[in-house]
Amino acid sequence: MAVLWITQFMIVTLNIFLGILFVLANKDFCGSVFETQVDHALVDHVIQTNVVVDEFECQLKCMGNNSCKSINVHRGDSNGKRSCELNNKTRQMKPGHFKKKKGSTYYSSVQVGSSFVYSEQRSKAEREEKSSPFCFTNQASCLDISRGRKQTTKSGQCHPEYKGKHCETPVPGWSSRHPALSCKQILEAGNSKGDGEYWIDPEKNGSSLKVFCDMTTDGGKHCK
Ligand SMILES: *[C@@H]1O[C@H](CO)[C@@H](O)[C@H](O)[C@H]1NC(C)=O
Ligand SMILES: *[C@@H]1O[C@H](CO)[C@@H](O)[C@H](O)[C@H]1NC(C)=O
Ligand SMILES: *[C@@H]1O[C@H](CO)[C@@H](O)[C@H](O)[C@H]1NC(C)=O
Repeated sequence: MAVLWITQFMIVTLNIFLGILFVLANKDFCGSVFETQVDHALVDHVIQTNVVVDEFECQLKCMGNNSCKSINVHRGDSNGKRSCELNNKTRQMKPGHFKKKKGSTYYSSVQVGSSFVYSEQRSKAEREEKSSPFCFTNQASCLDISRGRKQTTKSGQCHPEYKGKHCETPVPGWSSRHPALSCKQILEAGNSKGDGEYWIDPEKNGSSLKVFCDMTTDGGKHCK
């Protein structure tokens, strides 16, 4: 009995740890809450099946694929290998396909806080699907809740660091995570929002500098 308890405890601890890692890895995209559902799986939305060593490897695979919104990890075979299914939906999007399944664990990252704004940003078709707000890797249009809602503009508009029809494109120079090479480059790429502070990484060495760019004097002639 004691052994069983210890095993259960270890599994829970490991899951929490994986969850933290996962959220950290994802925080560039969305401040999100990590969700784990033991003995459950989302069926019929698998886009890829892999053999993995552990949950984390499966999560990494999911992060590497734009279409992946959640994963199911099935208990390992005798060699300890697990099967990792990448889903193109979440349980919130397809509640009817979320099933109890012994030995499987479902993971996704759920966005909280800015659901209203986020759902406004989604296409009409998606909204009509009545999917709840969710957020997984590479969903740049998700709002980074770690920044709070103050940073979000009126509903329907992109997070200030992103543009594009679906707010999917990070704008170089608008955030430390996506620095441009120079003020000039920002201006020439049409990403100027007037004189002000921008982020650049002139040496491309990975450390962004906040700079003031003069985008307007003499039509930006002094902008370097
Ligand atoms: C999701 O995957 C299923 C197969 O599991 C496929 O039929 C469906 O078209 C995919 N949907 C999207 C939006 O990629
Ligand atoms: C994501 O997975 C699907 C299904 O395996 C594949 O068709 C697609 O090319 C993958 N996308 C990326 C970016 O790897
Ligand atoms: C990167 O380059 C900038 C100058 O563009 C410099 O200020 C910074 O110290 C450099 N950082 C590293 C880690 O080399």
